[in-house]
Amino acid sequence: MQDAPATLDVLILAAGLGTRMRSRTAKVLHKLGGRPLIAHVCRSAAALTSRPIHVIVGHQAEQVETAVREELGEHGASFITQVEQRGTGDAVMAARDALADAGSTILVISGDVPLVRAETLGALIQQHRAHRGRGAACTMLTVRLEDPTGYGRIVRDEEGRFQKIVEQKDASAEERQVKEINAGIYCFETRSLFSALARVQPANAQGEYYLTDVPGILRADGEDVSIFLHADAREVSGINTRVELAEFERILRQRTLRRLMLDSGVTFIDPAHTYVSAEAQVGRDCVIYPDVHIEGNTVIGDDCEIRSGTRVTNSRIGNAVQIKDHCVIVDSEVADGCTIGPSAHLRMNAKLEEGAAVGNFVEMKKSKLGRRSKAMHLTYLGDATVGEKTNIGAGTITCNYDGKNKHATVIEDEVKIGSDTMLVAPVRVGRNSVTGAGSVVTKDVPPDTLVAGVPATVKKRISASAEVKAEDKKDSETRQEADAVDAPA
Ligand code: UD1
Ligand code: CA
Repeated sequence: MQDAPATLDVLILAAGLGTRMRSRTAKVLHKLGGRPLIAHVCRSAAALTSRPIHVIVGHQAEQVETAVREELGEHGASFITQVEQRGTGDAVMAARDALADAGSTILVISGDVPLVRAETLGALIQQHRAHRGRGAACTMLTVRLEDPTGYGRIVRDEEGRFQKIVEQKDASAEERQVKEINAGIYCFETRSLFSALARVQPANAQGEYYLTDVPGILRADGEDVSIFLHADAREVSGINTRVELAEFERILRQRTLRRLMLDSGVTFIDPAHTYVSAEAQVGRDCVIYPDVHIEGNTVIGDDCEIRSGTRVTNSRIGNAVQIKDHCVIVDSEVADGCTIGPSAHLRMNAKLEEGAAVGNFVEMKKSKLGRRSKAMHLTYLGDATVGEKTNIGAGTITCNYDGKNKHATVIEDEVKIGSDTMLVAPVRVGRNSVTGAGSVVTKDVPPDTLVAGVPATVKKRISASAEVKAEDKKDSETRQEADAVDAPA
């Protein structure tokens, strides 16, 4: 009977600055597909174990920890500080107290390999454990590259057995010819790792403690070192420069769009110029035009059309929604059959109920537009609740800010707000009422009432719509309020 496999620890190296990024921001915090590089690695690693993942932090430790917690949750990771960045070997050494006696198998992975898949890491661990029927001391993931410049080379002996890893800067001309490189992803028996690590010296071109010396040391000790040669070089390559970051962004985007076209039935007019986050969902028979950005956890229903230049971030869009050109929709909710834009701006929990429409140069913030209501031109709705079948005339503004506080505007059902109305909040416009063009509404408007002027005053009662009449029978209180309004000036 075979022993149960040793527990798995995962260690992610994320203390470096990433000099080649030429950035004030630590490399692992740079974003790919809208998420920090480290978050991508954490997600793949977390699929392998339910135990907390160890993360070595140093440069901008606090921000890196925040990014990791955002991905893994409060208890998903434990952090170890590498005080001075003296190389990848030194980084792992920082975890010695936490791990050296664990008797575990450990997966060590750089924080800058965002495309690595959990399946690949799982296969590496499996080979490590199965090596020669008893498991290896170390298994490293390698790939062959046409241009291996910059990477650690895998040096094998005449029989093709692993000998050592040589870093680019320390490699001889002959070693530099080697196309098989170290991907920076390894599996170790934890005890063997720390025993070899204690013997690593910074006697190399960079004066660093190289983790890459460990496999060679183990090999010299006569331990089993195994190589997991992976076919997909892109998947496991690290990002070192912004050129590579842009290249990865393109790959990730292609993966996402391909999946949406093949599995979800989405049409992209020009996939090379469309940007959809990996988390977003887009429904069947949607048509997405060029230069559309769909970001974060956005969910889009079926049969929508999104025209060029639009950005939708962390929003929910229903079915059969038409979003015309150049709209920005952030943290908002749009129900079935709405039309939006061109050039509309929905933000901070703007809500459009079924069949509502907003047109050009309309901004909605923390506001709701009820079923089949419309605000078609040049309008700001802030902190406003608009009922059903109401029309907001061109140029209407909710004056929601008095310089100190924000105030709410309520516009009930079947209201007609005249063009260029200023609604000075807090204010309420009762159902079936009308404001004249250019009104400045400073007081509540009762139902069934026409107001106009600056400030707006009551001009006349309007006959209630059938629907409103029925409602009013039940609600005589509102009627009394209406009668109590000042006579027109
Ligand atoms: C490393 C490998 C190289 C391999 C390549 C694959 C070494 C010495 N070399 O080189 O063989 O081909 O990865 O991408 O390991 N880090 C720390 N603390 C440090 C230094 C680095 O935490 O003191 C972290 C970095 O944040 C990064 C990772 O270790 O996430 C790798 O460091 P990096 O400088 O990118 O190593 P490479 O030069 O790419
Ligand atoms: Ca690297």
